[in-house]
Parts: sequence; C-alpha cells; structure tokens
Amino acid sequence: MLPENSMPSPLEDLDKIIVDEAMINERLIQLGEEINIAYEGKEVAVIAIINGAIIFVADLIRQLSIPIQLDCIRVSSYRDETTPVQAPEIIDSIRLNLEGVHVLLIDDILDTGNTLSRVSTIISNLNPASLKTCVLLDKHTKRSVDFDADFVGFQIPDEFVVGYGLDFAERYRQLPCIGILKPDLQNPPVWA
Ligand code: IMP
Ligand code: MG
Repeated sequence: MLPENSMPSPLEDLDKIIVDEAMINERLIQLGEEINIAYEGKEVAVIAIINGAIIFVADLIRQLSIPIQLDCIRVSSYRDETTPVQAPEIIDSIRLNLEGVHVLLIDDILDTGNTLSRVSTIISNLNPASLKTCVLLDKHTKRSVDFDADFVGFQIPDEFVVGYGLDFAERYRQLPCIGILKPDLQNPPVWA
C-alpha cells in the first residue's frame, strides 16, 4: 500500500492502452525489415523530429542493417498541451549536409500533417537524393494538409495519446506502451 501523498505511477494515469509493448516490439521488427529492403545498397540519413520521436527512432534504428547517419530537428507543434499550431516552429535545425543524400524523416505521430509537411519542405529545399517519411502512429483525423507517410507503424483512432515518446506537457514519454489518458487528466493542471 502506497503512502497517501506518494506520486502515482504514470501508467496508472492511463484510461486505456491502445498499443501494448509486445505489439510495438513486433511492429519494430517488421518496419525495420521494410526499411532495410527499401534502402538496400544505400546509406540513409535518419532525421528524427524531437522530442516525440526519440524513443521510436532509438529502437527502430537498431533494427536497421543498412548504414545510417543520424541527426535531429527540434520542432514545437503545440500552442498548449493538446492544441496543435498551424505552423510548427523549428527550434533547432539539422546539422548534416543532406545534399544528394537519401533521407528518412521520422516522427512519432501524423495528426494534422502540419509538422511533417513543414519539415519535409525544409528538407526538400536541401536537395536530398530522396526523401521518405516514417511515423509510429497515423491518427485517423481530418488532416489540415494532405500528407501520407511512406512507413507507418499503427493506424489509431482520433484520440490524444501518450507513451513511447509521446507526451502530455512533456510527461509520460517513458511509458513502454501507448494509451489514452484518463479524461480528468487531459486538461491542465495534470498535477497541481
Ligand atoms: P501534426 O503536426 O498535427 O501532424 O502533429 C504532429 C505532432 O504533434 C507530433 O510530432 C506530436 O508531437 C504531436 N501530437 C499529435 N497528436 C498527438 C497525440 O495524440 N499525443 C501526443 N502528441 C501528439
Ligand atoms: Mg509533443
């Protein structure tokens, strides 16, 4: 029995788990194979959109047998904790020279499409040899911009999800699964 004033485990804040750890691990292997085949004989620059893609990219690149370079682009997509902005802000940009390079851009989730379409345009302007995108989650939502990812982990319903890199106010990224927060926790303050 926990003392009354102790912090609950982040896992206890979930209403429902929609993608569990075993499903993620199985899909990581399959996605790794798809990417290895798509880029056979080539080197790829993997660009992670952070913070959200950190965990997914860390696990996915360890399934890759092709040579890769890794870099990150830091983007802020949220006006507050749950409302996406129309024009995501680039906070820290790519340092690798991507000219003539095969680029695989990876994000945690495709929602309105604003983030991936914005970052894709930035990368396309750097004249890569090719550009493909990969997301862990594809949310069934009304996109603001028409955008489809080349590699998708899971299709999910239009719900705000956390875990395995996805956050609510920078919390819950460490959860090994993906789930929906309890309704009373979906609006700030999460903890007073
Ligand atoms: P988009 O620009 O609307 O496609 O959203 C992409 C970004 O919004 C992602 O990089 C995520 O960081 C964030 N995001 C979208 N939906 C969710 C969610 O359900 N939970 C947590 N973050 C989300
Ligand atoms: Mg986020």
